[in-house]
Amino acid sequence: MKTIAAGNSEKEILQAADILRAGGLVVFPTETVYGLGANALDDSAAAKIYAAKGRPSDNPLIVHLADPSQAADYCYPTPLFDRLAERFMPGPLTVILPKKACIPDTVTGGLATVGIRVPSHPTARALLRACQLPIAAPSANLSTKPSPTKAEHAVRDLFGRVDMILDGGPCGIGLESTIVKITGEDSMTLLRPGGITYDQLCEICRNVTVDKAVYTKLGENEKAEAPGMKYRHYAPSAQVIVVDGPHEAVVRYIKQKSSDQFCGVICFEEDKACFSEPVFSLGSRSSTEQQAQRLFDCLRAIDEQKEIERVYAFMPETTGLGLAVMNRLVKAAGFLIEHVKEEM
Ligand code: TXA
Ligand code: MG
Repeated sequence: MKTIAAGNSEKEILQAADILRAGGLVVFPTETVYGLGANALDDSAAAKIYAAKGRPSDNPLIVHLADPSQAADYCYPTPLFDRLAERFMPGPLTVILPKKACIPDTVTGGLATVGIRVPSHPTARALLRACQLPIAAPSANLSTKPSPTKAEHAVRDLFGRVDMILDGGPCGIGLESTIVKITGEDSMTLLRPGGITYDQLCEICRNVTVDKAVYTKLGENEKAEAPGMKYRHYAPSAQVIVVDGPHEAVVRYIKQKSSDQFCGVICFEEDKACFSEPVFSLGSRSSTEQQAQRLFDCLRAIDEQKEIERVYAFMPETTGLGLAVMNRLVKAAGFLIEHVKEEM
């Protein structure tokens, strides 16, 4: 397939909108990560997304809208949805609600619910307005690769597999949207942490439960609330090992373990000098924003250094946006966490 590599001018966005209306695939920037979009009302267009990514057909797609007021056309919103929308949309939040019949089963992987998101990125918003369609879009990576936070990541994975790639520069947040499932009048489950934090959700809703899959690996026979959470995502080919414990002990442990040339280290800027190459910095220990922005780029950089077999990573703080950073890092490690103690 011929892929048009474009910027994000008005003309290029209009061309992308035409492609979407004709049933084609367009990669576009959002404030979280790049998305791989198709017309969410067109069964065969949505099917092309799964083929282009190599994505399992039971892993549903998020439906992107220009405005939360359109949600009622595609699902059954509740007063809690309206409160979330008023506060956090447009923005990095996806809300799962019962779907209406116009959303094809292909989009929802056969589920009776649909994920609704209103992105805030100006290019995504302009594209949604121009095509006047709901856009089904997963992250624009090949299945099992980290989500793309720059157009070049999407080019690497999907060039030749999609009709057009819009480049809007690096994504501001760098991790995918927060996903919540509304379970009652004043209750919901956090299925995937992201740019809208647990504390922010608690300001709007009394009962916010964090799904088990955020922290732990699900067992063989356990059903994932968000089907995507059960797949080994974001994993570089090297084995990632997350190390948790008192800071000094973690530094000592990783120093000792990572001394051979086949071992890499993912650390914070403040600790970088303690280690020899290859070392990948996530930015300052105190900035979960920087860590979120850099993590996927870092995992891709590790994949490019084929000789790296193992990577030791510092456990990030898990407050605020840090919960999302921790979740993605621990998933990249296949939930392999080593706990070290003070006296080593
Ligand atoms: O920030 C984002 O959400 C990005 C940008 C492009 O918007 N999109 C994204 O999509 O991360 P994707 O497909 O990579 O991840 C969607 C996640 C998957 O884990 C999927 O299982 C879950 O959302 N999901 C989608 N619809 C669902 C539903 N009806 N019920 C439960 N989980 C759902
Ligand atoms: Mg994804």
